[in-house]
Amino acid sequence: MSDLRFDGRVAIVTGAGGGLGRQHALLLASRGAKVVVNDVGGSVAGEGRDAGPAETVAQEIRDHGGEAVADTHSVATPDGGEAIVRTGLDAFGRVDILVNNAGILRDALFEDLTLELLEPVLDVHVNALFHVTRPAWRIMRDQGYGRVVNTTSAVGLLGSPRKSNYGTAKAGVAGLTRVLALEGAGHGIKANAIAPIAATRMLTQHLGDTADGRPRHDAATTAMMDAVVGSLDPALVSPVVAFLAHEDCPVTGEIYTAGAGQVARFFTGRTRGYHHPALSMEDVRDHLAEIRDETGYTVPDGPGEEIAQLLRVIAVQSQRATE
Ligand SMILES: NC(=O)c1ccc[n+]([C@@H]2O[C@H](COP(=O)([O-])OP(=O)(O)OC[C@H]3O[C@@H](n4cnc5c(N)ncnc54)[C@H](O)[C@@H]3O)[C@@H](O)[C@H]2O)c1
Repeated sequence: MSDLRFDGRVAIVTGAGGGLGRQHALLLASRGAKVVVNDVGGSVAGEGRDAGPAETVAQEIRDHGGEAVADTHSVATPDGGEAIVRTGLDAFGRVDILVNNAGILRDALFEDLTLELLEPVLDVHVNALFHVTRPAWRIMRDQGYGRVVNTTSAVGLLGSPRKSNYGTAKAGVAGLTRVLALEGAGHGIKANAIAPIAATRMLTQHLGDTADGRPRHDAATTAMMDAVVGSLDPALVSPVVAFLAHEDCPVTGEIYTAGAGQVARFFTGRTRGYHHPALSMEDVRDHLAEIRDETGYTVPDGPGEEIAQLLRVIAVQSQRATE
C-alpha cells in the first residue's frame, strides 16, 4: 500500500505554534499539504500574545522543504476566524482541511467560576468552531470537498472536577462534530473529532500543582505519572488527526481517543432499558439496575434511530399484551 499524501491540499491548523497543533502541522506538511500555522502565542490560560511560535513552526516546515504560512489571528472572534481562512486563501488559493486544535485552560471549582474564567474558555474551544469553521465550510461546500478534525477531550465526554467551563466546551465540540458530519454528508465533507492524551504544557498544568502551589498528588503517584507522561509524545496523536484529514478517511461524525500510540473510539451507547406503558416513580426506583444494565446496549446513529428503537419496544409490548 502506498503512503498517504496531501499533495495539492491546503490545511489550516489552529493553535499550531506548539504542543499537539505543531505536530499536526509538521506531519501534514511532511506529507505534502500546504499549511496555515495559526497561533496567537498566548499562555495556557490564554493571556498575552506572541507572533513567534506560529512563525517558528511555519519556518520549521519551510526549512524541511514544505510550504507554510504563519497566521496570528485569534480563533476566539468571528473576525479572527474569517481572517484565518482568508490567510489560507490568499497564500494558497483554497482550503481543504481544517484542524480545530487551539485551546486554553482556566480551571476553578464550579462555585468559584467567574465570567473571566468561563467566557474565554467557551470562546476558544467551542465558539471558535463556529468562527473558523463557518468560513472554511462555505469554501468546502462550494468545492464539494472538505475535512474537519475537531479536538474534544475526555474531560468533555467523561467529566473532571474544576473543569466545568472546559468540559462544557469540549462536550459542545463533540455535539457539533456529529451535526457537521450530517450536514457535510451530501457535500463531500467529513467531520470527526479526536480526544487526545499528550504531554504538552496543557497536560502538565492539568496534572501539576494546585493553583495555590500545593502538590496535587503524593510522591509515589507523581513518580508514576511522570513515567506515564514520558510516553505521551504529542507526535503520536498526529497520525490519527492526519488520517481523519485525508481523502481516504471513510468515517464521519466519530470521536477517536489517541495517546502514546494507542487509538480507540468513543461512542454514545444506550442501554436496553425498562419499559412500562404507565411508568411511575417507583418503577424507576425498582428497575434502576435494569435501566442501567449495559448488557445488549445499542449505539444509535441518530435521534431517528433512537426513536425507532423505542417504537419497536412499544410494538413488542403491545403485541404481548394482546396475545
Ligand atoms: N494535551 C492533552 O493531553 C489534551 C487532552 C485533551 C484535549 N486537548 C486539547 O488539545 C488541543 C491542543 O492542546 P495542547 O495540549 O497542545 O496545549 P498547548 O497549550 O500546547 O496548545 C494550545 C495552543 O493553542 C493556542 N491558542 C490558544 N488560544 C488561541 C486563540 N484564541 N487563537 C489561536 N490559538 C490559540 C496556544 O497559543 C497554544 O499554542 C486543545 O484544544 C486541548 O484542549 C489536549
